[in-house]
Amino acid sequence: MAHDLPALLYVAAGILFILALRGLSSPETARSGNRFGVIGMGVAVLTTLFILQRHHLGVWAMVIGGVALGAVPGAYIARRVQMTQMPELVAAFHSLVGLAAVLIAWAAFLAPQAFGIGEPGGIKMASVLEMSLGVAIGAITFTGSIIAFLKLSGRMSGKPILLPARHVINIALGFVLVLLIGMLMFDVQSPIVFFLLTLVALALGFLLIIPIGGADMPVVISMLNSYSGWAAAALGFTLHNMALIITGALVGSSGAILSYIMCKGMNRSFISVILGGFGGEVAAAAGAIEQRPVKQGSADDAAFIMKNAGKVIVVPGYGMAVAQAQHALKELADTLKKNGVEVKYAIHPVAGRMPGHMNVLLAEAQVPYDEVFELEDVNNEFRTADVAFVIGANDVTNPAAKTDKTSPIYGMPILDVENAKTVLFIKRSMASGYAGVENELFFRPNTMMLFGDAKKMTEEIVKAMH
Ligand code: TAP
Repeated sequence: MAHDLPALLYVAAGILFILALRGLSSPETARSGNRFGVIGMGVAVLTTLFILQRHHLGVWAMVIGGVALGAVPGAYIARRVQMTQMPELVAAFHSLVGLAAVLIAWAAFLAPQAFGIGEPGGIKMASVLEMSLGVAIGAITFTGSIIAFLKLSGRMSGKPILLPARHVINIALGFVLVLLIGMLMFDVQSPIVFFLLTLVALALGFLLIIPIGGADMPVVISMLNSYSGWAAAALGFTLHNMALIITGALVGSSGAILSYIMCKGMNRSFISVILGGFGGEVAAAAGAIEQRPVKQGSADDAAFIMKNAGKVIVVPGYGMAVAQAQHALKELADTLKKNGVEVKYAIHPVAGRMPGHMNVLLAEAQVPYDEVFELEDVNNEFRTADVAFVIGANDVTNPAAKTDKTSPIYGMPILDVENAKTVLFIKRSMASGYAGVENELFFRPNTMMLFGDAKKMTEEIVKAMH
């Protein structure tokens, strides 16, 4: 029984992780979901420490030291990070998961006897396959996530970098990867071959992510999330650790489902995403800002238009997150509702910089969930709206996605704000959005630009309404 206890506890942790994922699927249950996740992780860590009590004190010291090494900087970073930096932080953390998988696989390869999987040069075939997959997926995740981090944090241009014959190179590297794994399994278990496998996978991770343009980064994040889970699951088999297998599989499959949802949201093919070839077939985004006249309004103008409207649909975007304008927005909506105006929120699947970004911010401001609608449920309603109030959003409203085949966002479904009688855009300048594409809507006759910080401008509009 004592022998089975850790396994039982790991299963309990797995169930708590499943409850966590279930909870996180809706803003209403997200907090309790998070709690389940924390308890599950606590159970898993304590169980691992319990198993380790069989070993001598040095092992404990190493494990505690390792946990401290990760937990102290992790807690420091998590406390300091801004909400808007979350996607790049997630990408950075994924790279560490990938690196951990590579290091564990190397440890198991060099000292298989310590893992009970054979002798150096004579490792069990199944274990060779597990650690080869672990090192390959881990290395792809590692370099891919570093590139994603650099792109998301603006340290590297978000524009696609298109190497000539990149598809051929990627396919060739994929073949070499399979060949090397085959050699390790059926022929020589040499560290040189394992090193080459690591090297090829590192290169592949880099090559898969550099051609991906800014607007497609949401898919990349969820895809790398999925990869990191599969790398962990593969190594769970090598380490005979059920918790790692369950958790890795949960992360891998939920990341894959999220990637699928993101692909649908972006109208991209799932297969081409996995192969890293998407987003690059089109021309790079236009950089220059056009000097055409636009209709500019003030907070007073906006207040007047909205107070006299019957229905206002709010479209939040990344700029709302930057300005932290969600509370001011809620106040604006409350004022409008008091004046008998119907208010709804339209959320694009990739608005902001991470999945659910806008939902989280609106929930924080206590916007009622029944006023918040997904793209497909609300898009037809812009026709019947008097005002589309676009606050810090840009790409998700850009009609170039429908009309311009050369645009990097071509094919992405957008919120049809142009169908509203009046479109109000709050943003600070004429600058383009994340994808670097100019938005034709700014120049339309039914558009009014409200230049300024989203929070300040919204507060001014509320003031002007009283
Ligand atoms: P964007 O297209 O990036 O547009 C945001 C706009 O907000 C910018 O044009 C900017 O214009 C404005 N802005 C920035 N700070 C502001 C402030 N303080 N006050 C007012 N306006 C401000 O955002 P979006 O429409 O939400 O689209 C999201 C984009 O990010 C898509 O291309 C998407 O693919 C990509 N992306 C999404 C994710 C996920 S998972 N959601 C992850 C990575 C990338 P000014 O500079 O003129 O103010």
